[in-house]
Amino acid sequence: MAQLTVADDEGALARSAAERLTTLIERSIAATGNAVVSLTGGSTPRRLYALLGDEAHPWRERIDWARLHLFWGDERCVPPDHPASNFGMARSALLDRVSVPSSQIHRMRGEIADARHAAEDYGGELRAGFAAAGRADLTFDVMLLGLGEDAHVASIFPGSELLRRRPLEGRPTEAELVGRPEAELVGRPTDADRVEVGVVGRPFTGRHELTAAVLAPDLKTWRITLTPSALLDARAIVMLVAGARKAAAVGAAIDGPLDVARCPAQLLRQAGDRVEWMLDGEAAAEIRTGNSGKCAGD
Ligand code: 6PG
Repeated sequence: MAQLTVADDEGALARSAAERLTTLIERSIAATGNAVVSLTGGSTPRRLYALLGDEAHPWRERIDWARLHLFWGDERCVPPDHPASNFGMARSALLDRVSVPSSQIHRMRGEIADARHAAEDYGGELRAGFAAAGRADLTFDVMLLGLGEDAHVASIFPGSELLRRRPLEGRPTEAELVGRPEAELVGRPTDADRVEVGVVGRPFTGRHELTAAVLAPDLKTWRITLTPSALLDARAIVMLVAGARKAAAVGAAIDGPLDVARCPAQLLRQAGDRVEWMLDGEAAAEIRTGNSGKCAGD
């Protein structure tokens, strides 16, 4: 069962998330010598990032930034200094104020003209980055994610072909896996099963995909994103969600009727107690009422 933390307001949520993220990073460094973390974009995490980098708060001192390896769950197809860049936001809010070695900051190159090439490029960056961190697998220590009003996570939008894609011949799709007991997921693809990239519309390779280029349905702009299986391959998945406009999506994701194609965040149900929902009161409003919330198109 996913873990749930509800903070009184957005400020309290950011502080609670800063404490949680710092604890998870400290634990990973104590266990493995470093921490492999995937950051999210959007506007919600900006306050958290600013807190982590603020010397007036304890978290900046507690994190050994030199031992951090940073990745992103998705990116907009823009240059890093563009206002819409997820990397750009994290850099100005946090990375410019702490000392993570640049060789350990693995951003998605949104400036690459063809999103498919950018996705392919990031497949290689992921592999090289995990290898450089001395990791034999591609399992993140922390996957930080946000949630869209339409219940998208990273850039996996309702109706996404990525939700229908069968990761391995004969294996269930991500949508089919949801609702199956965690134990049944034990056989998830090993490192050797993974290929670098899958591109929407390209024939299925029969091996596992880590990154994809997707067209954001409403925005009509290309995005680079980790695939569902790459996102779920994490020791801790922290969902950071704030505001009343997200309440219906949160309700649907956590206890709505099962419909992953229309509610991508339901993918997280597969990950059971590895998922930590960190919400403010407004975003949690529909959970308390037990109202199962709405999915895209309801
Ligand atoms: C992005 C994100 C996306 C985001 C949600 C929530 O690139 O936009 O990765 O998945 O987390 O859209 O965005 P807000 O925090 O701005 O509401």
